[in-house]
Amino acid sequence: MKRNLILAIESSCDETAAAVVEDGCKICSNIVSSQINVHKKYGGVVPEVASRIHVENISVVIEEALAQAEVTMDDILAIAVTQGPGLVGSLHVGVQAAKTLAWYYDKPLIPLHHIIGHIYANRFVDELRFPMIALVVSGGHTELVWMKDEWSFEILGTTQDDAIGEAYDKVSRVMGTGYPGGPVIDKMAKQGHPHYTLPKPKTEKPLDFSFSGLKSAVLQLIDRENKKGEELNKEDLSYAFQEAALDTLLKKTMQAVKEFKPKQVVLAGGVAANSRLREKISEMIQETPEVHLTIPPLWCCTDNAAMIGAAGWTAYTHGLNGSLDIAANPSMEI
Ligand code: KG4
Ligand code: ZN
Repeated sequence: MKRNLILAIESSCDETAAAVVEDGCKICSNIVSSQINVHKKYGGVVPEVASRIHVENISVVIEEALAQAEVTMDDILAIAVTQGPGLVGSLHVGVQAAKTLAWYYDKPLIPLHHIIGHIYANRFVDELRFPMIALVVSGGHTELVWMKDEWSFEILGTTQDDAIGEAYDKVSRVMGTGYPGGPVIDKMAKQGHPHYTLPKPKTEKPLDFSFSGLKSAVLQLIDRENKKGEELNKEDLSYAFQEAALDTLLKKTMQAVKEFKPKQVVLAGGVAANSRLREKISEMIQETPEVHLTIPPLWCCTDNAAMIGAAGWTAYTHGLNGSLDIAANPSMEI
């Protein structure tokens, strides 16, 4: 019997990843080759370096994904790939690999939006109930996505400036605590106390977000402490930054929940790995006991190809089929 196997490829930032996913929710293999140790030295992802490493690794991770799943290209039903958004040179490598395989093996090609992949990662741990709200929080995105039904997406609110993960990374850089900043600040904030005061971000539209003001406030605070000759307490600063960033994020999510009345809320994206966010959203959702909350396990919060396979299967069943002339789309919209 023909199996519903999707070969998925993800290379939008600094992970070269390939996976084989069956029926949209069963992982046969999930290979991620991370470049984090290379980019750490530079304090952030260097796009040119990232694309070169993707070129070196892409065929290796694809071969590994097929081998671990114990399948060949003949068994694959369709090829799903992240088309955007992301770093253009990085995206090109995955898109080109997917196009080549689709052409050579005469398979359907499914180009996907990276964030839709993050949302569908929840399918590995739970069923999805619609209408649904996804709180997408990553290095490039901060969005409230309304899904009235399967494969239907509407942005209710987005960031007016920096993404929340970007703010974590920048704050960590100015504190001199390295890249990626999210996990470091998450850990340090646990030892911190309410000592510093930072302003809560404000926006014009009620469901939009803003993080650049908060980032500037952190910079000013560091400057002030330096001028006073005071030693900066990084744990306390991590605590203050994290509480301010998460406070508005969660208030707005709850506002959207009360207004739109979804059956389910899901977290998605790298920042969904944050322990304080996971704790706070679980607490806050108790105000609306009729709403089911799904928090993805840590392994599928950050970038991987299995999530692209999960989204790819749903896209395939909805008739999405890309042509062989598609190109990477670094500013792709949902
Ligand atoms: O989804 P992802 O792997 O890549 C993008 O699509 O951007 O997210 C990466 C982001 C980085 O900004 C990183 O600092 C953040 O997720 N991140 C975290 C945590 N783990 C990763 N942010 C806060 N707390 C964490 N524990
Ligand atoms: Zn991501």
